[in-house]
Amino acid sequence: MPDLSPSPIPLSPCPPIPPSPHPPVSPIPLILGVSGASGLIYAVRALKYLLAADYTIELVASKATYQVWQAEQQITMPGDPEKQSQFWREQAGEMDKGQLTCHAWQNVGAAIASGSFRTQGMLVMPCSMSTVAKLAVGLSSDLLERAADVQIKEGRKLVVVPRETPLSVIHLQNLTTLAQAGVKIVPAIPAWYHQPQTIEDLVDFVVARALDQFAIDCIPLNRWQGGRKG
Ligand SMILES: Cc1cc2nc3c(=O)[nH]c(=O)nc-3n(C[C@H](O)[C@H](O)[C@H](O)COP(=O)(O)O)c2cc1C
Repeated sequence: MPDLSPSPIPLSPCPPIPPSPHPPVSPIPLILGVSGASGLIYAVRALKYLLAADYTIELVASKATYQVWQAEQQITMPGDPEKQSQFWREQAGEMDKGQLTCHAWQNVGAAIASGSFRTQGMLVMPCSMSTVAKLAVGLSSDLLERAADVQIKEGRKLVVVPRETPLSVIHLQNLTTLAQAGVKIVPAIPAWYHQPQTIEDLVDFVVARALDQFAIDCIPLNRWQGGRKG
């Protein structure tokens, strides 16, 4: 009778993996779109926390953003992408950490204009009603709109933080269309239960709730603990 019992497969120790000749793969970026709604501080605070937490950010600001920087801060935002990166870092007060690449609003051939460029999704903050309307009809007239449209078509996370008041029925219908397409609508509406002491506290609440949509938790926030002290 032959011995049919299974013979053990000899296991030799795995050889060590040789060091890769390639540099480490950079983390998958998050796109930050800044449109020409009031409240650039929302974008600045988001960028500050994301860079401090070492995220890789691709930033595109719309043409109207230049005018809002002038109106809100009397500052001229540079158009050159390299200088703009420096500018946003200075505004965010974070010169060293994370990776930041800025794109010109009209550069519809940038990497973020293609679905083949992998991202964690896109946050548009603040988001104007004009951008909301264009996204709702699939109109990509600049890089921000194109990148956001790509996130929708690829089924990736798109979060918009609309800032307008009051909202017309047209705004509401456009926001509904986006919500039906899977876009998360996080209005720039702060809460008061976390006992904000400063404008930054109010802003950070909205920024934290927007980043929650990406499961990014990099902002110290007194979250609601059911009445318990957090
Ligand atoms: C100082 C300033 C503040 C603005 N605030 C808002 C706003 O809060 N919400 C909004 O929908 N549009 C606002 N706008 C109008 C938009 O900038 C305008 O509709 C623009 O065409 C939007 O273009 P974009 O969506 O490509 O950025 C503001 C414009 C200026 C100059």
